[in-house]
Amino acid sequence: MKKLIAGNWKMNGSLESNAALVKALLSHSDDWTCDVALCVPAPYLSQLQNLSKASPLMFGAQDVSTHDSGAFTGEVSAGMLKDFECRYAIVGHSERRQLHLESDALVAAKAQKALASGITPVVCVGETLHEREAGLTEEVVKRQLAAVIHLNGHCISEIVLAYEPVWAIGTGKTATPEQAQHVHAVLRAQLRAASAHADRVQIVYGGSMNAANAAQLLAQPDIDGGLVGGASLKAADFLSIIAAAH
Ligand code: PGA
Repeated sequence: MKKLIAGNWKMNGSLESNAALVKALLSHSDDWTCDVALCVPAPYLSQLQNLSKASPLMFGAQDVSTHDSGAFTGEVSAGMLKDFECRYAIVGHSERRQLHLESDALVAAKAQKALASGITPVVCVGETLHEREAGLTEEVVKRQLAAVIHLNGHCISEIVLAYEPVWAIGTGKTATPEQAQHVHAVLRAQLRAASAHADRVQIVYGGSMNAANAAQLLAQPDIDGGLVGGASLKAADFLSIIAAAH
């Protein structure tokens, strides 16, 4: 399956730095053999729409509302993302689960809204350090994915799934390739039980993926790409990860 390397810029960027970063990435786009996407802050969607025209670069948002329109100050709907030709929307990132108290059910509803608008949700699941140490990793990620399957069963093969151990995000601590592969295999089995098309779901790994560790992670049979935070802000690092994803 074709791999996906998706950058998650989080709340970083400026018109000027974004233009320079995208230009540097696109100068190597002839060499890309995997899918490449950038998930950017909502105000920069229009900039990405322009910068990525006629290129293989795809882009997306970092969240989406569960509502279509109305009195929801600060929210952005799937229809609005579609207006900007967004291909992806991250849902359930651990920063939103933790800082904005998003529940499994809410994340599942966000995935549903994205799918209904033809946007691919990048559904994030992952355990905290406390949960890993308590031996709860499988239980936690299966519970998080089960909520999304429950609400989106018939089109579950249309999602991208991101395994992001919370303890590895932004910490410089990466899951070992074996640890990540183990969880990816668990998630793959859960998807297979839900859909005959589970094998076309890209299951990507996120959490301190960088130029040095990407190749080993991406060599695992059930790791179909990466969701890359910090290293997606530096063109050379992100390009190295893209090059490792063949
Ligand atoms: P990181 O972030 O690569 O900086 O650890 C990954 C993510 O949060 O998606």
